[in-house]
Amino acid sequence: MRPADFIVPDTEDFDTPHALFAELRGHCPVAWANEMGGFWAVTKHADICRVLTDWQTFTTTVQNVVPPVATTQRRPPLHLDPPGNIPYRNAILRFLSPRRIEAWRPVIAAMVADHFDPFVAAGGGDICADFSFTLPIALLAAFFRLAPAEAEEIRRVGAEFNMALQRQDFETLRERSDALYQIAARLIEDRKTTPQDPDLDPVSNLLAVRVDGAALPDDKILGALRQFLLVGIIAPTTFIGSMAIHLARHPEHHADLTANPDLVPVALEELLRLYTPYRGFARTARHEVELGGKTIRAGDALAVVFTSGNRDGDVFPDPDIYRLDREDPDLVTFGRGPHMCPGAPLARVLLAEVLRQIATKTRRLALTGPLEMTRWPEYGPLTVPLRVTR
Ligand code: HEM
Repeated sequence: MRPADFIVPDTEDFDTPHALFAELRGHCPVAWANEMGGFWAVTKHADICRVLTDWQTFTTTVQNVVPPVATTQRRPPLHLDPPGNIPYRNAILRFLSPRRIEAWRPVIAAMVADHFDPFVAAGGGDICADFSFTLPIALLAAFFRLAPAEAEEIRRVGAEFNMALQRQDFETLRERSDALYQIAARLIEDRKTTPQDPDLDPVSNLLAVRVDGAALPDDKILGALRQFLLVGIIAPTTFIGSMAIHLARHPEHHADLTANPDLVPVALEELLRLYTPYRGFARTARHEVELGGKTIRAGDALAVVFTSGNRDGDVFPDPDIYRLDREDPDLVTFGRGPHMCPGAPLARVLLAEVLRQIATKTRRLALTGPLEMTRWPEYGPLTVPLRVTR
């Protein structure tokens, strides 16, 4: 075992990860830990951007997250380096153009209200279990035009997978992962027998893609769909909990947004910076390389700690302070380089609508009990008990 630069704590609260990362950025910005299979935590903004853009040195084809989650197969586009990722990524991007995102706005507003109004009417509850665990799955089900029975199943299996992942219950995780593969396989089969317009239906579009005249391989389409069915639901669930904690701790910020809902987009960016939900996306060094004063060996895993990069004082003055006067903040919340999140515009519409409805439908959020926190590869709460004042 190598000498460790830091120890991954067994327990954390809402603030301790930020304190640890601040210390690492100051003293050991690329830091080795022996837990979770052994990995380098890359904590500075510039180093994170370097790792993500230099895919010739840092590949995504070996290990994509810390801790390494056992996977049955590589799932494009995230698990393939350029150029292999490109056909899958383009097939997805087509459905996330600005014009398409605009069309989602009213649908998302209604969807958020459907989920949020009962929570407010009940005077609160656990905003994660009662709201943010189901909302993003409902959006994904609509995005993929799932039949109501399939949508219901993915809502259930997706929420169970999400919870198992966050609690690191690997047996349940594998079972639910298989169930998600089955849902994806049924969806592909359905679109093969009853094709839909590829301009409207993402799965029919993936099936219609041709590279040098050949269709994409079935197993890769399956992997891509399975990837997509999950990657978009995990971050929003914990991040909505983080937004709620911030507003409960800072009623003055809540009141400000209630009085000026036009501030929501800029407030959302600041919250995405302060409570960045991913810290464990990973790459693997193809050969020995220097980074942050350390020698990274061939085969070493590196976690790009977005949660830390977004509080790097070299890029963001007063990094721990909520400020709405930052000009064009260079966030790494959604990654960088060839795998930068294609869902970011859709996620922003969803999360801004959630923040807007919290600000306009409630006057005060108060924490009523202890928080439960997620672990690597995410950052954020799994349980946020709240009392809501209308
Ligand atoms: C707060 C919400 C979200 C955050 C913070 C987030 C963050 C990220 C990050 C950091 C990556 C890059 C990972 C890497 O380089 O290893 C990524 C990739 C990805 N995200 Fe998101 N994401 C969010 C929501 C979504 C949503 C709603 C969707 C779907 C509509 C989505 C779809 C994807 C896909 C398909 C990839 C893989 C892209 C590729 O490999 O080319 N994400 N996301």
